[in-house]
Amino acid sequence: MAQVAAGLVGLETPCVLIDMDRVEANIARAQAQFDRWGIAFRPHVKTHKLPELARLQLAAGANGLAVQKISEAEVFAAAGFDDLMLCTTLMSPGKIARARALAVGRRFALVADSGAAVAALSGDGAPLRVLVECDTGGGRCGVQSPGEAADLAAMIDAAPGLIFAGLMTYPAAGGTRAVQDFMTEARRQVLARVGHCDIISSGGTPSLDQASGAPVVTEYRAGTYIYNDRSLLERGACRLEDCALMVLATVLSRPTPRRVVLDAGSKILTSDLMGLQGHGFLPAYPKAQITGLSEEHGVVDLGQDAGLPQVGDKVLVIPNHACPVSNLVDRVTLHRAGVVVGGLDVAARGTVI
Ligand SMILES: Cc1ncc(COP(=O)(O)O)c(C=O)c1O
Repeated sequence: MAQVAAGLVGLETPCVLIDMDRVEANIARAQAQFDRWGIAFRPHVKTHKLPELARLQLAAGANGLAVQKISEAEVFAAAGFDDLMLCTTLMSPGKIARARALAVGRRFALVADSGAAVAALSGDGAPLRVLVECDTGGGRCGVQSPGEAADLAAMIDAAPGLIFAGLMTYPAAGGTRAVQDFMTEARRQVLARVGHCDIISSGGTPSLDQASGAPVVTEYRAGTYIYNDRSLLERGACRLEDCALMVLATVLSRPTPRRVVLDAGSKILTSDLMGLQGHGFLPAYPKAQITGLSEEHGVVDLGQDAGLPQVGDKVLVIPNHACPVSNLVDRVTLHRAGVVVGGLDVAARGTVI
């Protein structure tokens, strides 16, 4: 769908379009892989923030959902989802109380990577299931060694009101081997200290196709795979025809022969570069670069592309990073092969606290 289909040109812009045929194909393809490998699959909903799409993911065979914020967890709990993993730790008593409320009547887990976090989470009320977050090379949160993972697992196991549930990591792209090495040793040490280590959870769309290379992993979390985006396209982790989320924009101006300005800026495309040059990919103009964004304008250098959009034309943009785009719009438009089939309010939009 490089050119804008007739069924979409009349939409007000900028507008986030979701291709449901592609969404369904992406869900089915990933789930089939995990089923074949015997790894549980837990889609991360921060990509779409839509209970309607989460239902499709569970119907396809997913085991539960991953969420990133307590407020996001609450939206999905209220929508009836009964197996949630919060992939962050909590330090505030108010949020911990909300987590305990979520732990009643559903399967709920969260993570910790320090004694301070374990001490904060420990307490009365519904027991909280806690996984030890491990840094297997991603360089974000996580204990730094298998020995530290085992120490923290033992601390969780002994803490009032907590249940040690396993190990979790958000690895670097291409970090499958490192996950296998770290988690194999961490599991060995945890089993020696605590006697059980039920879940070993890894994740990330860039390494999804290599997930079977870390057989120690029992569960995989991925979010972006449902939409894909320019960053995955550029890494070769998806094909153009797998990109399900695009922003429809209007050419507002063509101040020079080779520059056009779109009505889509950082407030819809986000300013995430993801290590790339430019702010999105225009499938109809593959040599064009979105060279600059202000809040409501996107400046496109058309490069040597032959066809030139005129003022008033509509163009499609694949954003660098699909996930934060979902957090920027109240509503997304659904289509199939360029025919609008509906729209959805983004239920968990703004759940960043
Ligand atoms: C903890 C955690 N798990 C899983 C994911 C899913 O990663 P991806 O969107 O690459 O599939 C993310 C993404 O940010 C994450 O932070």
